[in-house]
Amino acid sequence: MKIDFAREQKWWNAKAPAEERDGSDERINRALRWIEIEKHLKGVKTILDIGGATGAFSIPLAKRGFKVTYVDFSLEMLKIAKGKAKGVKNLDFVRANSTNLSMFKSRGFDLVLNMDGAVSFSGSMADKAIAEACRVTRKKLILTVSNLSGMIPVLTGVSLKTSHKLLRCVYAMFERGLWHQERFPENRVLAKGLTQDYLGTFKAYSPERLRSILKKNGMEIVRLGALGSLSQLCGAETLSMVLKNKKVFNEFVNLCDRFDKEILPYGPGTRQRAGLLAVAKPQ
Ligand SMILES: C[S@@+](CC[C@H](N)C(=O)[O-])C[C@H]1O[C@@H](n2cnc3c(N)ncnc32)[C@H](O)[C@@H]1O
Repeated sequence: MKIDFAREQKWWNAKAPAEERDGSDERINRALRWIEIEKHLKGVKTILDIGGATGAFSIPLAKRGFKVTYVDFSLEMLKIAKGKAKGVKNLDFVRANSTNLSMFKSRGFDLVLNMDGAVSFSGSMADKAIAEACRVTRKKLILTVSNLSGMIPVLTGVSLKTSHKLLRCVYAMFERGLWHQERFPENRVLAKGLTQDYLGTFKAYSPERLRSILKKNGMEIVRLGALGSLSQLCGAETLSMVLKNKKVFNEFVNLCDRFDKEILPYGPGTRQRAGLLAVAKPQ
């Protein structure tokens, strides 16, 4: 089904004020992404941050001296990011859709980030957003996208909770990795109570599917796998203790990183935020 980007923008505008309020395992996911980013900064001068939102990555990277270009399609996100970035040099703001980055030349940026949203929430156009991110990458691309093995249990649970049965959207997720609120009339009940009673159109990927689309776009895989599965598998009670305990937080994040690499590379990832990570470079 076609994606209505005007509807999506309105939804992201409404979500903007709470974008950096990291509850649940969002903080773990964000910390794991920083660990990964730090590994790829050597030799990097220019960075493109696609779906930069409130500037949580763009601004600190620009402050560190990298020449950063921020892209987002939400006016509210852009407004908040610009407000936070007053006085920060090396940071350009561009309002654009991740599925069309034709204003940037091919191989134009040393490091490209497209994390948590601007791919997955492009729904049926998500593969195009990946293709655009690949095209503009000179050295490395870091992507995080919705993890199919994390999304299927979530939709299964919400489906049973709201309707006491397994709705068609669960099977649509299995078959095509796609959620679209207008796909089935009963989908609306699942989104009740969310921002604007809406759940943005999204696409979730299996590691194999993501590997194949990156290869099709001329990329070599550097790392591909789940992000933060331990934080989901250890359960809400343990996670809540970790989040309250500053002393243990960093140690737990490092354990999550090891778990993803050594124990369960293709696990479900974190429950909140995109739980599948890929790092790739042009072949
Ligand atoms: C959850 S936020 C993620 C922010 C940040 N990248 C991070 O990793 O924390 C997702 C952002 O992607 C933006 N976004 C979603 N779809 C997009 C699209 N098609 N084009 C540009 N931006 C998009 C939203 O406006 C939002 O600011």
